Amino acid sequence: MRDPNIGEILIQSDELRRRVEVLGAEISADYAGPPAREIHLVCVLKGAVLFVADLMRQLTVPCQVDFMAVSSYGSSTRSSGVVRILKDLDKSIEGKHVLIVEDIIDSGLTLQYLLRNLSSRKPASLEVCSLLTKPSRAEVDVPIRYTGFELPDRYAVGYGLDLDQRYRNLPYVAALTDEAVAAAG
Ligand code: PRP
Ligand code: MN
Ligand code: MG
Repeated sequence: MRDPNIGEILIQSDELRRRVEVLGAEISADYAGPPAREIHLVCVLKGAVLFVADLMRQLTVPCQVDFMAVSSYGSSTRSSGVVRILKDLDKSIEGKHVLIVEDIIDSGLTLQYLLRNLSSRKPASLEVCSLLTKPSRAEVDVPIRYTGFELPDRYAVGYGLDLDQRYRNLPYVAALTDEAVAAAG
């Protein structure tokens, strides 16, 4: 039985799988060189967990993965751009080729903060791979090297994306129903 909060499916699981395969091949080709560069994936917890797990299995070049958890605080519906680090990377990224992996870029404020923060640590290169973008909601211009899909301005859940921490496990990306959006505020 379908959850009453879950509306239309926006991206089916087989579409996700095929796109992640293509992204993995593209990223692998870019970093294969010459010169070959080892990829240091930075997974932004928690949303990007499913994406990074699938993406890294498609990489055919050496890679490492580290995790960072950030929280933007302020109003609940709008990202304030004031970001707090809840969990920092375990290891230094100085001189490394860093690829930030995100599930979704919405306003862009979280990513803007991450780019500033990580670039100050002097990586050899710093790029971004986001499964989803919502161009209609962008408030700041952030350079996104690899994108999976552009989403319409709908509240989406699944494949890592949550509503109050739920629905991250859905194998597809779905829109919330209007009733669920209204109830969530
Ligand atoms: C979500 C999403 C991105 C960010 C995008 O994370 O996973 O990280 O918001 O929003 P922005 O572009 O407007 O800054 P969230 O803060 O909900 O944490 P989560 O990944 O743990 O769900
Ligand atoms: Mn997130
Ligand atoms: Mg979230």
